[in-house]
Amino acid sequence: MPHPSEVMQPNAGMWRAAPTSPTSDQPVTAANSSALSVADAVVRGVVASPHRIDATIILPTYNERENIAHAIATITQVMGDEVSWEILVVDDDSPDRTWEVVEALAQQDGRVRCYRRVDRKGLSSAIVDGMSLGRGACLVVADADLQHDLSRIPELLAALDHAPIAVGTRYANGGGTAGWSRRRLTLSRAATLVCQVALGIRCSDPMSGYFAIRRTAFQEVAQHLNPRGYKLLMELLHVLRPAQVGEVPYIFSPRRAGESKLSPQVAWDFVLSLAELLSRRLVSARFVKYALVGFSGVAVQYCSFYLLWRNLVIDESATAAAIATAACSNYLINNGWTFADRRHRGSAEVVRGLLWFGLISGTGALINQAVTWYLHDHHTLDLGLTMAAGIAVATVWNYFLNLDLTWRGHARPA
Ligand code: GDD
Ligand code: MN
Repeated sequence: MPHPSEVMQPNAGMWRAAPTSPTSDQPVTAANSSALSVADAVVRGVVASPHRIDATIILPTYNERENIAHAIATITQVMGDEVSWEILVVDDDSPDRTWEVVEALAQQDGRVRCYRRVDRKGLSSAIVDGMSLGRGACLVVADADLQHDLSRIPELLAALDHAPIAVGTRYANGGGTAGWSRRRLTLSRAATLVCQVALGIRCSDPMSGYFAIRRTAFQEVAQHLNPRGYKLLMELLHVLRPAQVGEVPYIFSPRRAGESKLSPQVAWDFVLSLAELLSRRLVSARFVKYALVGFSGVAVQYCSFYLLWRNLVIDESATAAAIATAACSNYLINNGWTFADRRHRGSAEVVRGLLWFGLISGTGALINQAVTWYLHDHHTLDLGLTMAAGIAVATVWNYFLNLDLTWRGHARPA
């Protein structure tokens, strides 16, 4: 069976083979590997490097000729000689020939490696390839344009002692962004909030491009990733569902040279990734149960209203009591059935859960009303139709908030 680094030997001579002995204690995991190109090897997750070194710092690049030497020098200084490390630049065949600069630096320092990808482009997939090819027990990802504070790499690595993943964050105490317009800051914060609520991710900066992950954690989820656009961390956090996320605050500085590759396409990719992850989360047995419980609540509300109305003369209080009864019944059935794996037990937990559930249902009702009347007034749609849209939006909203808040837990997605 060939050694992984042989599998990675590129047809086009791009891969700089590691200057280590070809003995491996970990097997290559796919057959016929000799016929694979570098890209195939990565896509099929073939490369299983032994942990010969402590850390790989992955630098994805596209037209970073003016920055890359500076970034490599900074990292070399920060990492020192106490731990074993390598820098792996994944360059998408940059027109400015960034890879050429890296090749020259690699001649001088064997810890620097360059993977010039000629067959694919894209930031997230470059990072995934870098992670697959890196030989470190810990994998760090940073931008090459010096916007990330590279002096924090040791802290990110140290945080991996307590968590499978550690994030360089702009949005925790001590972090920040230098020289951002109010508009960009608002957009970034809004995207962060959507991502946190919709995906239930507990991390202050899930959109960060600066993070570290244990190789074992990456390998566990590698086959579930669908790298697209810029938001690989968001996907990693979603798929990994780590019980702990390490956070290292830093200041995001202005770009040193060159220009950002952030484009409308990248924003669109974010929306697509989010929709895909959301739908994966939504299309679940749990959501079907939740929706069924919602229907049962409608029946409970009608029945209790009818009973109360026959015995009470005041309509308003009968409606209110019927709504409260339906909410309690929904909560109890959800607690016993939909969220059985995270069930609240004991009166204190149940009362707290019921309060959260009530609060969220209340906001859901407002959203329901707002959507219904917005569509009806602005798009002059039929009221029956717009009510259905209102109910659908509110149900999804309620479901995610209840999943993330009322019945928060660390269960893995189905
Ligand atoms: N290999 C490869 N392929 N590298 C790429 C590509 C690509 O298609 N696109 C961008 N890069 C590299 C850049 O060369 C740079 O080193 C790094 O990825 C980040 O790209 P920028 O274009 O500088 O991104 P940004 O500064 O706008 O966005 C950064 O900050 C965001 C937070 O606001 C990134 O770190 C994002 O991931 C992060 O979300
Ligand atoms: Mn940048």
